[in-house]
Amino acid sequence: MDIKFVKADVLKEKPDSSTLGFGKIFTDYMFMMDYSREEGWHDARIVPFAPIALHPASTVLHYGSEIFEGLKAYRRKDGTVQLFRPMENIRRMNTSAERLCLPQIPEDLALQVLTEFVKTEQDWTPSADGTSLYLRPFMFGNDETLGVHAVHNATYVIIASPVGSYYKEGINPVKIMIEDEDVRAVRGGTGYAKCGGNYAASNRAGERAERKGYSQVLWLDGVERKYIEEVGAMNVMFKIGDEIVTPMLSGSILPGITRKSCLEVLRSKGYKVSERLLSIDELAKAMEDGTLKEAWGCGTAAVISPIGELCYKDTKYAVNNGEIGEVTQMLYDTLTGIQWGKIEDEFNWTYKL
Ligand SMILES: Cc1ncc(COP(=O)(O)O)c(C=O)c1O
Repeated sequence: MDIKFVKADVLKEKPDSSTLGFGKIFTDYMFMMDYSREEGWHDARIVPFAPIALHPASTVLHYGSEIFEGLKAYRRKDGTVQLFRPMENIRRMNTSAERLCLPQIPEDLALQVLTEFVKTEQDWTPSADGTSLYLRPFMFGNDETLGVHAVHNATYVIIASPVGSYYKEGINPVKIMIEDEDVRAVRGGTGYAKCGGNYAASNRAGERAERKGYSQVLWLDGVERKYIEEVGAMNVMFKIGDEIVTPMLSGSILPGITRKSCLEVLRSKGYKVSERLLSIDELAKAMEDGTLKEAWGCGTAAVISPIGELCYKDTKYAVNNGEIGEVTQMLYDTLTGIQWGKIEDEFNWTYKL
C-alpha cells in the first residue's frame, strides 16, 4: 500500500538519554490509516504527531473498542536499528481484533507500515544502555453512532516514544502484591486480548498496591481466586525446586512474547519447564518451606523483572533474600543481549530495518 508522507514544519529536539522515562516523550511523526467495511484499510499516512479529532459519538469513547500492542526498536552497537519478533505482535494484534470485533490487518500490510514508520523515526532510537524506542500500535472503533454493534469503521495508529528503563528501581528486584479482591479477567472474557478495558479494570487494584509500596499486583484467576495468572503488565515465572513454572495460557492471561521467548531459551538450555496451573496454596507453601528459589516477571517494557518480595493477605515473603537469582539473570542477559545485538541471535528473533 502507498503511504503518504506529510512533512512536519519543525522537528523536535531529541532528548538527553538520561532524562527518558517511560512513554512521556513522543517522536515527530505518527502513522495512521483508516478502515471502513466498504473500502477496507485505506488512506495510509505518516503525519506530524498531533492530537486526533474524534466525533463525540465515536465507538471507542463509549464502548471501549480499543486494542493495542507494545514492542521496541533497539539500537545495536554498530548503529543499526532492529525490532524483536515483530510478527508476534502483529499476530497478537489480529487475535485481539478478532475478540473485539475490530478489523484484521493483513500481516504483510502490518509489517510494511510498521517498518516504514520505524525507518522514518529511527533517529529517535536512543543508544544509551537499556534505552530503546517504544512502539505503540493501537486500533479503535470509530463509528459515529451510539448503536452497540461490531464496528464498521476503525482507525489504526502507531506512535513512538524513546524510553529509558521501565522501573525506577532499574533491574533491582521489585515488590509485588498478590491481589485477592479484584480480578482482571475470566476465561471467555478478554484476558488473552490486549484491549484497553483490561487495563482500566486493573487500575483500582494497582492503585491500592502502589499505596502500600508495591510496584504491581499479581492476579489470581477470576473464578476460584486460587490460581496464579499474571502481573499487571508482565507474565510471571517461578523456580520451585528445580522446576520452572509459569501459569498455562488458559484464555484469561495475555500470551506474552517475552514469556514465549523465555520458555524457548529455557527449553533450549535444558531446564525443566512447566506451563501448568499453579495455586496460591502451592506457591505459599513453597515460599514458607524455602523451595521457591526465584520469581520474575517478563514483558516487553521491563524485559525481565526479578521479584524480591511477594505479599499475600498481609504476609510478606522475601524471595531469594530480595536478590536477583541465577536463572533470572541468565534470562535477562540472554534476551537483552539478543535485543540490543550484543550476542548472537541463535533463535532468529531480530528483524533488522
Ligand atoms: C497484562 C500483560 N501481561 C503480559 C505482558 C507481557 O507481554 P509481552 O511480553 O508481549 O510484552 C503485558 C505487556 O505487554 C501485559 O500488559
